Amino acid sequence: MATLPSSPTAATPSAASFSPPLALVKVGGEVVDDDSHRRGLARNISALVADGFDVIVVHGGGPQVTRLQERLGQKAVKVAGQRVTSADDVFAVVASLAGTVNVALCAALQQAGVRAFGCHGASAALVRTTHRPPLVVEGHGVVDYGEVGDVTAVDAALLRGLCRLGVVPVVATLGIEPATGRVLNVNGDSAAAAAAAATRADLLLLVTAVGAVRRVVGDPASRLARLDRAEARALIAAGVIGGGMIPKVQEALALLDGGVGRVAILDAHDDDAFASVARDDGARGTVLVP
Ligand SMILES: Nc1ncnc2c1ncn2[C@@H]1O[C@H](COP(=O)(O)OP(=O)(O)O)[C@@H](O)[C@H]1O
Ligand SMILES: [Mg+2]
Repeated sequence: MATLPSSPTAATPSAASFSPPLALVKVGGEVVDDDSHRRGLARNISALVADGFDVIVVHGGGPQVTRLQERLGQKAVKVAGQRVTSADDVFAVVASLAGTVNVALCAALQQAGVRAFGCHGASAALVRTTHRPPLVVEGHGVVDYGEVGDVTAVDAALLRGLCRLGVVPVVATLGIEPATGRVLNVNGDSAAAAAAAATRADLLLLVTAVGAVRRVVGDPASRLARLDRAEARALIAAGVIGGGMIPKVQEALALLDGGVGRVAILDAHDDDAFASVARDDGARGTVLVP
């Protein structure tokens, strides 16, 4: 695999300063749930590692949280694609993300020969957050998201250090407010974007079951190979981009000025998916452009 956008880390491999290119892979819950997606993901990550990349995985687990909530007699509520988390809901969020989903993902990666090291945002305060106050969300008035955090910092040195030890960190997207010890739910795409910016990743791959931004959600043939800011804004306003695709696209576009190389939304079903995006051949997923 080759042709990455030029970046300070990838450009000058001298013996003393060489650090391998870094791929940050964000994995949605549906991908972990589905056998063939999960195996494809593991194979794609294994291929990245074989190609010399350091890899960091950040994952959500929306469907798994919702299922556990249902088993507990709780109701999942989302506004503009983001979960409202009451104090009672925190249990399901922590138990799913840092428990079942994280372990399932590590196991699948391990099976593909990847040394997956499971942890979560509260581990060594990897993902620092502040509690999100009630805020105005377009079309919804004032929304109190409850036990939800906005990321203030990601410990890039720790993540890079884990990579240097030869493991692939697999981070469940909880956040911690260190001063209070409060553990907060964080949108997976937001945490991944913050981690990509902090580590100055060469590639950010937002892996989601739907596999791309589409003009018609149910029609794979309507995939947008590239999406720029202006069009993204128009498609969100028109309701063509909705739900969980909104934070994904917004976070991805916000990163393009921030020193991250290439950002794409894609699935991992196909063994060549990640390599295709690294080649920038337009054959898979949606690549975000300014
Ligand atoms: N234009 C669009 N193209 C693709 N998916 C869309 C679009 N608009 C809304 N979506 C929805 O966004 C979802 C992806 O977001 P989300 O469910 O949060 O996934 P993840 O768990 O990977 O973050 C898709 O499953 C799809 O239903
Ligand atoms: Mg999502």
